[in-house]
Amino acid sequence: MKHLLDIKSLSNEEIMTLLDTAEAIAATQARTIKTLPVLRGHTLATVFFEDSTRTRLSFETAAERLSMDVISFSAKGSSVSKGESLKDTAQTLVSMGSEALIVRHNASGAPRRLATAGWVDVPILNAGDGTHAHPSQALLDAFTIRRHFIDDPLGKDLQGINVAIVGDILHSRVARSDVSLLNRLGANVTLVAPPTLLPMGIETWPCAVSFDFDEVLATQPDVVMMLRIQHERMNSGGFFPSAKEYQRAYGLDAKRLKSAGEQALVMHPGPMNRGLEITAEAADSPQAVVTEQVTNGVSIRMAALYLLLAHGEEISA
Ligand code: CP
Repeated sequence: MKHLLDIKSLSNEEIMTLLDTAEAIAATQARTIKTLPVLRGHTLATVFFEDSTRTRLSFETAAERLSMDVISFSAKGSSVSKGESLKDTAQTLVSMGSEALIVRHNASGAPRRLATAGWVDVPILNAGDGTHAHPSQALLDAFTIRRHFIDDPLGKDLQGINVAIVGDILHSRVARSDVSLLNRLGANVTLVAPPTLLPMGIETWPCAVSFDFDEVLATQPDVVMMLRIQHERMNSGGFFPSAKEYQRAYGLDAKRLKSAGEQALVMHPGPMNRGLEITAEAADSPQAVVTEQVTNGVSIRMAALYLLLAHGEEISA
């Protein structure tokens, strides 16, 4: 593995190594947070052209727990406003000593361009590009599901786990990466959305599609993953159905959660629109693992950095 760009670029072996390495790292963090010395003296840059709370801070926390130094770049307030290109921005950060770039960009394909254009020669980790991919989110989602449903999870896949992914699939890079990864791991995925929030060509994705949330909940899925309505990616006319109609047909509330059954884990990649795709009652219920997803994200990102940069050095607490 030279970069982390999307799920389809990973082999099955690389996926299992990422999940199992995250499991080993999580074990070192279980009681007290421990900084591991494996990447001391190495430097990472987070390069964000779009806003983020979880992904950026999670990668920065992961780097710090591996003893790395972090350079933090945001397009907002930078020389991007003066017209500086992605190439010149990346070369500037590498010239300051960055040995890996964590890139979030509004343009689908920007991280791949950086990885393949020959502008810089460091690992590129995609932290979310347009509507294309968010591989570290998918890995932390799979890791969270595996930890909940599979005893002794090392080396195990998600064969037979039923996952419903609900909401704004059209604009969701998380949905694309999750469908790709969960399918590769043997889970059965059903996407649930109104037709207006599904992308063209959805019939070619390796999953089922439903317009009826209540019908899917009645099948008692193992996981109900709610997605954010991405207002910022809608055109100026807003979205159809209206927020009220959407909430009524596709919002997860306490009644719907009860119909899904006690086995159902409630997941959300964040940030949540409380009161739209999910009520506070559902988001804060004992079945919700939203904060656990965030915790697991640090282990997954530590694993990705370790595998890309540590070149076989032992993980030791
Ligand atoms: N899940 C996720 O990508 O959240 P942020 O936008 O806060 O990074």
